[in-house]
Amino acid sequence: MVVRYNGVVMGTDAEKWDSRYGDATQAPPARVLTENAHLLPAGGAALDLACGLGANALWLAQRGLETDAWDSSSVAIDRVRARAEALGVCVHAEVRDVVKCPPPPHCFDVIVVVRFLDRSLTPHLIEALRPGGVLYYQTFTRTYVSDTGPSNPEYRLRDNELVSMFSALHLLVYREEGRFGQLDCGFRDQAMLVAARF
Ligand SMILES: C[S@@+](CC[C@H](N)C(=O)[O-])C[C@H]1O[C@@H](n2cnc3c(N)ncnc32)[C@H](O)[C@@H]1O
Repeated sequence: MVVRYNGVVMGTDAEKWDSRYGDATQAPPARVLTENAHLLPAGGAALDLACGLGANALWLAQRGLETDAWDSSSVAIDRVRARAEALGVCVHAEVRDVVKCPPPPHCFDVIVVVRFLDRSLTPHLIEALRPGGVLYYQTFTRTYVSDTGPSNPEYRLRDNELVSMFSALHLLVYREEGRFGQLDCGFRDQAMLVAARF
């Protein structure tokens, strides 16, 4: 499948990400995590799904969570392992197609999904949370103010879509600012949700 990202035509999805990750610098942990860190459980098992270079996984592991990090890019996973070793933290990083092999039921106390959207995973993410488990989700919206993120609208959220996708969970935090107010500040181009399973 031919893939476009930020307007650039790439090869297959895995090739695209492998080539991007060769020399990419690691992004900071996502705001959905850093701004809602107080909602994390004190311990337990965490998953960073479609982790890329693993900034979120490393951040979780540094807070004492037993952390898995899954991505289909072997280049990304090699770099997550190297970074974890350099930082002296334990991250179980695995090359895994999360659509073909979604997380099994009742395995995680925290699941983080950032800048990744495959709607077929929604029931698996809900089921994969243990009772009391918390989902942190942040990704691109179809309403935006700058040109970051995927050009294919299928990979961007409709207005308030995360709320309906995860309506089976208890909503703790939702933020989506669209094009309201002063566009050069705030949290733009993406939506964030934190929700818990009872
Ligand atoms: C925009 S990046 C986001 C990476 C990371 N979550 C972050 O925010 O920095 C999207 C990631 O999804 C991964 N990905 C795409 N399809 C996948 C699949 N089917 N299974 C696992 N990972 C996948 C890519 O390799 C890429 O690392």
